[in-house]
Amino acid sequence: MSSFDRSPLVVTIDGPAASGKSSTAKLVAARLGMRHVDSGTLYRTVTASQMRGGEAPELWTEQSVLDAACHVTLVPGETSFVPRLDGAECEAEIRGEAVTGQVSLVAKMPHVRAWVNAMVRSTAASHEIVVDGRDMGTAVFPDARLKVWLVALPEERARRRVLQRLGRGPTPDELAAETADLEARDLKDREQTQPAADAVWIDTTGISQDEQVGRIVSLAEQRR
Ligand code: CDP
Repeated sequence: MSSFDRSPLVVTIDGPAASGKSSTAKLVAARLGMRHVDSGTLYRTVTASQMRGGEAPELWTEQSVLDAACHVTLVPGETSFVPRLDGAECEAEIRGEAVTGQVSLVAKMPHVRAWVNAMVRSTAASHEIVVDGRDMGTAVFPDARLKVWLVALPEERARRRVLQRLGRGPTPDELAAETADLEARDLKDREQTQPAADAVWIDTTGISQDEQVGRIVSLAEQRR
C-alpha cells in the first residue's frame, strides 16, 4: 500500500467462525457507502447447490462441486452482493445445519477456492467493497488498503451465534454444544484462516458492536 494508492477501496475483515465478521462488515459498508461481500455465503451456496444433487458427500469431487457452482450467481444489491442459487434467494437453506456441516469439505477444494476468489475479486473491479471471510486479506486481496482480523473467545462467539439463530441467549448445554461445533469448524478451516501480517487485530470479546464498527470505519476513512 502506498499513500498515493487510488485503486477502489477494499477493506477486508477476516477471522474464525462466528467472530462477527459478516455483521460487522455489513455495518461498516453501510456507514461508508460501500458494498458488502461475504465470501462465506459463496462457499455455503455452492455447498447447498451440490447438496441439492442428493449425492452422499463421500462421492463429491472437485468437478461435481464446480458443476454445482455453475448454478450460483452473485447479484449486486443496494448495499451488498447477494448470492443466488438458480436465480433465487437461498438464505435459510445456506444457514441450515446441513450446509454448515459440509461447507468446510467444499472449502478445502483448491479449484473451488479459486472459483470463489475470482467471483469475489470481480466485485472489486467496479465497486468499493468491504469483504469478509477467512483469507480475504491474504490470498484474495493482499494489497487491500485496510485489513482487519477479528477475534473473540470461543464461548462468546458461540453465545452470539445462538442469539443470532434463536433470538435468545443459550442454555449451558446449548452453549457447550455450539462452542464445540465452532471449535471443530475452526480446526477444519485452520489452513485458510490466517491473519495477514499487516492486519489490524480487534478482539471483540469485551466491546460492543457499535464500538468495533466505529473503529474500523475511522481506520478506513483515514486510508480512503
Ligand atoms: O459465519 P461463519 O464464520 O460461521 O462462516 P462463514 O463465513 O459463513 O463461512 C462458512 C465456511 O466457508 C467456513 O466454515 C469455511 O469453511 C468457508 N470459508 C472459507 O474457507 N474461506 C472464506 N474466505 C470464507 C469461508
